[in-house]
Amino acid sequence: MKRTILVAGGGGFIGGHLAKELLKDPNNHVRVVDIKPQDQWYFVHEGAENRVGDLANMDVAQASCEGVHDVYNLAADMGGMGFIENNKALCMLTVLINTNLLVAARDHGIEKYFYASSACVYNADKQRDPNVTALKEEDAYPAMPEDGYGWEKLFSERMCRHFREDFGLHTRVARFHNVYGPYGTWEGGREKAPAAVCRKVIQAKTSGDHKIEIWGDGKQTRSFMYIDDCVYGILKIMNSDIIEPINLGSDELVTINGLVDIVEDIADIKLQRDYNLSAPKGVNGRNSDNTMIQRELGWAPGIRLRDGMQRTYDWIYEEYTAKYPTAVKA
Ligand code: NAD
Ligand code: GDD
Repeated sequence: MKRTILVAGGGGFIGGHLAKELLKDPNNHVRVVDIKPQDQWYFVHEGAENRVGDLANMDVAQASCEGVHDVYNLAADMGGMGFIENNKALCMLTVLINTNLLVAARDHGIEKYFYASSACVYNADKQRDPNVTALKEEDAYPAMPEDGYGWEKLFSERMCRHFREDFGLHTRVARFHNVYGPYGTWEGGREKAPAAVCRKVIQAKTSGDHKIEIWGDGKQTRSFMYIDDCVYGILKIMNSDIIEPINLGSDELVTINGLVDIVEDIADIKLQRDYNLSAPKGVNGRNSDNTMIQRELGWAPGIRLRDGMQRTYDWIYEEYTAKYPTAVKA
């Protein structure tokens, strides 16, 4: 018998890539549910059962879990700093999705439940210095997460824990650190720094206006995980015995200026940098401590930033020039 797998939020970036990977196994029946109209999904996989529905609605959550063995919950109303700093209430309303899906998963006797949490759950005090000490799983407490989005993630993590303790639901929780790659959002306000920087460099290159606006002073640090590492890690964690929330992120720390250097190098261009100090900035420094994932799985995300950014840049370049052909100077 086929294993029926629900990918909640599978019209989005990570869920779309994950569904593609799950479909490679002929024993899987993959059900994708997303609130967006299908013409806005990043992927519509032919082999999947594709449904449009609002998982913040309990009836939709219950119907989505019908006959399902495993749930991967990647549905959320989120984005990069530009979105989460200005939409805290919307980010927190995502709690309805996780609440409904956990209840529906319990009611339908789901075998395993994966929850996509975030590095935004970590205590802000541990992220004040750009020369950040990489974040260990225990650094989420005492709790002082990112306002709005981070609080919702931390609360939903705990709901997973209590559904495991009280109802015996087998939950797995990964804290993703900034994920990038092809088929991610690259314009419109929800894009994160890797895609935003690619778009801005392409814009400058194709228009001939050799300037770039960078949010903050460019000295803030992050680590960025390529999508292939993310999908591989999700599946490894889901199929492991790791019941506590675990980091899933790269530990290759880079400044935002360093990220721009990489993209300039890929595009073979040098731009004048304008720093916007009033733009959304988030924490000063964030990195993933991968001691736990190395210990538990003997693996950690390892795709080099330069390599992942080359593939991301190439994809965004194609998208950008197809969408804005007149912007490209001869
Ligand atoms: P995404 O925005 O591309 O995908 C999320 C999908 O959820 C979207 O397609 C959206 O339409 C869908 N969705 C939103 N509300 C819904 C609802 N009510 N019902 C059904 N579907 C709904 O984002 P992503 O980058 O693929 O992120 C996936 C998950 O990983 C999210 O939970 C996110 O918070 C988490 N995460 C992502 C990152 C990252 O860097 N991308 C980092 C940390 C955590
Ligand atoms: N988005 C964006 N766009 N960020 C920029 C830009 C730009 O044009 N220029 C500079 N930055 C800076 C931001 O100011 C921030 O300091 C840094 O780049 C990283 O921004 P994002 O990629 O937007 O977000 P983040 O790393 O602070 O948080 C993201 O990752 C978390 C997990 O680690 C968000 O996507 C969260 O939702 C996610 O949970």
